[in-house]
Amino acid sequence: MSAVYPSLAGRSVFITGGASGIGAALVEAFHAQGSRVGFIDRDAEAGQALAARLPGAWFAPCDVTDAAALEAVLAAAASALGPIQVLVNNVANDTRHAAAETDAQAWRAHLAVNLDPAFLAARAVQPGMKAAGGGVILNLSSINALLGPAGMPAYVAAKGAVNALTKALAREWGPDNIRVNAISPGWVVTERQLALWLTPEAEAAWMEQVALKARIQPSDIADLALFLASDQARRITGQNHVIDGGRT
Ligand SMILES: NC(=O)c1ccc[n+]([C@@H]2O[C@H](COP(=O)([O-])OP(=O)(O)OC[C@H]3O[C@@H](n4cnc5c(N)ncnc54)[C@H](O)[C@@H]3O)[C@@H](O)[C@H]2O)c1
Repeated sequence: MSAVYPSLAGRSVFITGGASGIGAALVEAFHAQGSRVGFIDRDAEAGQALAARLPGAWFAPCDVTDAAALEAVLAAAASALGPIQVLVNNVANDTRHAAAETDAQAWRAHLAVNLDPAFLAARAVQPGMKAAGGGVILNLSSINALLGPAGMPAYVAAKGAVNALTKALAREWGPDNIRVNAISPGWVVTERQLALWLTPEAEAAWMEQVALKARIQPSDIADLALFLASDQARRITGQNHVIDGGRT
């Protein structure tokens, strides 16, 4: 059970990639706080199924690599929910790719999902946040930006850029009381990780490396996001918040 943050009740919250994994936990967690939650995902079926379980939740299918579609859906969400007060840039795609096999087109495609939407969505909500006297932007990064593992160079570079972008926007928009923070999870047990990479052997190796010998669940990430989005975090901005059980 999460803490209750009265400041989140009634707040309009927009989450990208919210249909599954950590994004779905974020949607559920903000909804449970009484926030007005909107989310997008390219997986229309999963998104509609989640929204159907959560009274009042707003969902629209959207592929975030289409910048014009992303901007249009943000405008539609703001019309439905009121100007966005909390933006959670959660969407990403961590499909593995060796450096030697990542040509210019593939490189661009990785950045188009793992970096560009974080900036474009932030830029789209900023005027509304400024007019409202403030807002919160949370960027999902990864400890992989700190560790630099092999086999996913564009993802790692994108997450490093997300950390740098977080600081830059926090400085630029801090005078308007817009707080910008990054969250860097360690290995979180999602459907996709279990299906693709989180084998018993890989998990055993992970558990050797961490201080806390317990799985990190999507709800653990959501608990940190709730705090950072709430007024209790009113003086925290421009930081990368690592939540990895003590791996780094
Ligand atoms: N799971 C982990 O172990 C882990 C670790 C570190 C960081 N993270 C970060 O946390 C965030 C969430 O990760 P996750 O593991 O829940 O991811 P996930 O892959 O399980 O879910 C991502 C969601 O985004 C959607 N999506 C993917 N591409 C899209 C696109 N082009 N347009 C619209 N929607 C799209 C997917 O349909 C899915 O619902 C990501 O930023 C990720 O990099 C995750």
